[in-house]
Amino acid sequence: MTKEITIEDLPGVGPKTAEKLADSGFSDLMSIATASASEIAAIAEVGSGTAEKVIASARGALDMGFETGLVALEKRDLIGKINTGSEEINKLLGGGFETSSITECYGAFGSSKTQVAHQLSVNVQRPVEEGGLDGGVLYIDTEHTFRPERIQQMAEAHGMDYKDVLSRIFIGKAYNSDHQILLAEKAKDIIKENNIRLLVVDSLMSHFRSDYVGRGSLSNRQQKLNKHLHTLQKLADTYNLCVYITNQVMSKPDMLFGDPTEAVGGHVLHHASAFRIYLRKSKGSKRVAKLVDSPNLPDGEAVFNIVNDGVRD
Ligand SMILES: Nc1ncnc2c1ncn2[C@@H]1O[C@H](COP(=O)(O)OP(=O)(O)OP(=O)(O)O)[C@@H](O)[C@H]1O
Ligand SMILES: [Mg+2]
Repeated sequence: MTKEITIEDLPGVGPKTAEKLADSGFSDLMSIATASASEIAAIAEVGSGTAEKVIASARGALDMGFETGLVALEKRDLIGKINTGSEEINKLLGGGFETSSITECYGAFGSSKTQVAHQLSVNVQRPVEEGGLDGGVLYIDTEHTFRPERIQQMAEAHGMDYKDVLSRIFIGKAYNSDHQILLAEKAKDIIKENNIRLLVVDSLMSHFRSDYVGRGSLSNRQQKLNKHLHTLQKLADTYNLCVYITNQVMSKPDMLFGDPTEAVGGHVLHHASAFRIYLRKSKGSKRVAKLVDSPNLPDGEAVFNIVNDGVRD
């Protein structure tokens, strides 16, 4: 067996540089291989030529070339699925919320986007045979609607010790869009140290919408949003975790038939979310989830309930 290659073994990276990189969260080959040259140059305080070489050799060491469809299929076997609490939604999603991709729920206020976030935060911690991944949670809360009491209710419904459950949820309150971006960029260490398998961003767009007001700032907003989504996707890939984002809706006044609402965030977001689910309120505790976009599943609807115990059929 060959000795495992570490970042210190990369040409151009001495112990000092390795330390600088590690301090900024670039402590494994994958994070370097997928970084941009300007990022590495700034962090390691090296020239862009050196940065490019470092990235190239990290890529070489990782063998990031093409793979066959068979290998891709084998990788799909590593994908974990988080039980949502509702068999109907699980069925709609082919088992549950998937790791390694971004799943988005959008809908009006009260449609249960945040309830789903809380339920997933409990369920991901359960053992695999009970629909969990025995993993922790990183929760980026932009609307200050994370409620530990709600976690307690949902945990106790499964006979789990709520204090144990809460101690595996790491909450970052984002005060504006730049702060939100930074929280995601700084997440690597927490993710690695705590076996994080679910990353929640509730909600993705609220700060972006209030920080960039007016037509003139739209392209700037979309650029930042795009970068943020890349960070999230990279975390999903690198650490095989599920990214769950919630999103708001706006009404389309020119629409004559059907439901006149659509998710905000534009094309950038549309392309980033592998699964898009539209949630809407029905009678009482009833909610409807509609799968509107998936790479491998048919569109469809599921009816579920929000009750004291959490998300149920
Ligand atoms: N303990 C509970 N038991 C039953 N239903 C509850 C409980 N707590 C919350 N709910 C339901 O969940 C709804 C709130 O859902 P949630 O906060 O997830 O909406 P949201 O889609 O996140 O809305 P927003 O856009 O305002 O963030 C409440 O209106 C209530 O019907
Ligand atoms: Mg909410």
